[in-house]
Amino acid sequence: MKGEAVASSVNRPWLDPGQTPFIKIQGVTKSFGPFVAVDNVDLDIYQGELFALLGGSGCGKTTLLRMMAGFETPTSGRIVIDGIDMTDVPPYERPVNMMFQSYALFPHMTVEKNVAYGLKRDGLPKGEIDERVDAMLSMVELSSLSKRKPHQLSGGQRQRVALARSLVKKPKVLLLDEPLGALDKRLREQTQYELMDLQDRLGITFVVVTHDQEEAMTLSTRIAVMDAGSFMQIGTPTEIYEYPESRLVADFIGSTNMFEGIVHQQDEEHVIVKVAELDADIMIEHSAAAADGSKVWVAVRPEKIILSPSEPLNTDINVLRGVVDDIGYFGNSSTYRIRLENDLIVQVTHPNQSRPRDARHVAEWEDVVYLSWEPSSGVVLNK
Ligand SMILES: Nc1ncnc2c1ncn2[C@@H]1O[C@H](COP(=O)(O)OP(=O)(O)OP(=O)(O)O)[C@@H](O)[C@H]1O
Ligand SMILES: [Mg+2]
Repeated sequence: MKGEAVASSVNRPWLDPGQTPFIKIQGVTKSFGPFVAVDNVDLDIYQGELFALLGGSGCGKTTLLRMMAGFETPTSGRIVIDGIDMTDVPPYERPVNMMFQSYALFPHMTVEKNVAYGLKRDGLPKGEIDERVDAMLSMVELSSLSKRKPHQLSGGQRQRVALARSLVKKPKVLLLDEPLGALDKRLREQTQYELMDLQDRLGITFVVVTHDQEEAMTLSTRIAVMDAGSFMQIGTPTEIYEYPESRLVADFIGSTNMFEGIVHQQDEEHVIVKVAELDADIMIEHSAAAADGSKVWVAVRPEKIILSPSEPLNTDINVLRGVVDDIGYFGNSSTYRIRLENDLIVQVTHPNQSRPRDARHVAEWEDVVYLSWEPSSGVVLNK
């Protein structure tokens, strides 16, 4: 949850009804023939947000972004940016700039010329172009490479040229389609922080498309999780991760254990769900939007489950018993797959505080272990 420090340091205009959204997407649908790529979506994005559109391949992310940029016309609905209905505004007159999924740089031009291109085309005076290009190159730390051509740069450097080229025109909104897709993991992480920093300094509104959930969590003020042209949930990274509203969102963001059951008993603060496959009741410390007797699912994240070699003494609520079936070592943590008596597998993540050479794993293969979790750790989902 690296993004939380960032998310809490910006204000949260979406909670303030007095704020006017910078981008308003109202009932927007895009059909290609009979196929509906974006299905009647509504979304408000506020100035200075770093908003992420997250979803699997083909769910409509690029299409939605292209409609904001003006490269695609909505079949119905409208998009308002900075108070102006964009319906009849062509792409080049919109206060937005789009960085494409494959950021094509001009191969025969130097870094400097690539960045200057848009300003030149707009007919700005040479002095101003030079000044703005210099400032932008220094901001993305490419000043020393300004005379190189794209093929003489690393993937990350090329990505920064593309970013500089999009930013130099000072758009009010920057639309980024998978901006870090071409980078390796380490460079991706570094560039994520550069992006956040840049966005913070420039105060530009960013809308970033990604299918990488970790990236969305790290980068954004808010996330819209998309599936088949619709928004499944819109919220801060914490809301999406801790309080998913559906199985689809819980499954898409991080890994989770899902148990199907029936609401057995509830009051305002607790729900007891009878889970037939566990032959046990699960207690959850929040209310369920479901009536007694209805089918629900309980989601419990692997890192919320405590693994212990002996039966917990203080409680018998939310306790399961099983055998270690598999251990995956990930350096900073290990994931245990625990097989219950009925062969159901439950995943548990355990941080590695000491090195395995020095200390035994908390449990080894074939050990009998007990799993337990706090009633506040589960989430009840009714869809
Ligand atoms: N011009 C088009 N004509 C017909 N179908 C299209 C067109 N453009 C996109 N689609 C379809 O619309 C759906 C959404 O496409 P889109 O490019 O928005 O997906 P995406 O979420 O960006 O996916 P990815 O993560 O793979 O880039 C896809 O099923 C795609 O095949
Ligand atoms: Mg796409």
